[in-house]
Amino acid sequence: MRYLKDSQTKELKIRLKWDIYESLKDISLQEGKSLNFVINELINKEVKILQYNNQNQFFIEKPRIVFDKKNIKLFHNDFIKVDFSEYVGRVNLLITSPPYNLSIEYGKHNDSLDYEVYLEFTKQWLTKAYELMADDGRICVNIPLDKNKNGLKPVYSDFVEIAKRVGFKYQSTIVWNEQNISRRTAWGSWLSASAPYVIAPVEMIVVMYKKQWKRLNKGESTINKEEFIEWTNGVWTFSGESKKRVGHPAPFPLELPRRCIKLFSYKDDLILDPFVGSGTTLISAFQEGRKAIGTEIDERFINLAMSRINSSLFVQQNLI
Ligand SMILES: C[S@@+](CC[C@H](N)C(=O)[O-])C[C@H]1O[C@@H](n2cnc3c(N)ncnc32)[C@H](O)[C@@H]1O
Repeated sequence: MRYLKDSQTKELKIRLKWDIYESLKDISLQEGKSLNFVINELINKEVKILQYNNQNQFFIEKPRIVFDKKNIKLFHNDFIKVDFSEYVGRVNLLITSPPYNLSIEYGKHNDSLDYEVYLEFTKQWLTKAYELMADDGRICVNIPLDKNKNGLKPVYSDFVEIAKRVGFKYQSTIVWNEQNISRRTAWGSWLSASAPYVIAPVEMIVVMYKKQWKRLNKGESTINKEEFIEWTNGVWTFSGESKKRVGHPAPFPLELPRRCIKLFSYKDDLILDPFVGSGTTLISAFQEGRKAIGTEIDERFINLAMSRINSSLFVQQNLI
């Protein structure tokens, strides 16, 4: 092994310090902030991420299964902490909408994290998911295009960037035209070029995969010709779900997991939803003849999901 001579180490250190200084100076100039401010901002960001990681490290939760019927399993756990070693490399399709960090009142989950900490949370759950996916496993993640509460952030592009760093490969993006007209009222400067806001009333469904897109083994598809032709067009138009009707602050409609499941998975595949909420993905998996597992951190939503899944099993049984 070769060691750096003392004089070389010294020179390397000076060069590194100089590079860091130059980068910080560039940021300071670009953002019109003092160098001191930029350095403090950077330190604060790092400290917050460290604190977040310290709180979350070292805990592994035993799986607490609360529902196990007809190949549908629900766990009352934190997805990042739960010991899911028995599922490593087995998940064929992940469908979820993670917490959006839009200060939604979830109960157990803090949905007002600093953006940098939120991105760290995103990295952690994606890393866990990566482990659980089969080599030809796919993910469909429903996230906003951007966020404009407490500072504008390009959530979608940051998400894709992190997922790529974790190891996922990019396949495509479906634009869900949710037609949510309530978002059409934040104009910024009305009828003036002073500071108008442009808001797209859509959400994204990011489609990525672990190692290879083509499935390794053939299975039984359950999609028909009309569905295939319509859904392979990457703009999907259907309404969102009513929070009041479902009793959850951010449910997606059954149509969303239904399309993903039929388009991207075979019958009997294993579907995972790390953020179950009111249980929509698990219900859809059951209806489409897939196996499913999911985790939810909050007891209120665990009860809600169980009751919704039970009702859907009951309906199906009475139809047969
Ligand atoms: C956007 S909602 C999902 C809604 C779901 N798609 C539906 O249709 O009802 C996100 C859910 O993730 C849960 N959650 C947040 N952090 C979690 C974690 N670390 N592990 C498991 N669940 C979590 C929240 O309690 C919330 O119910």
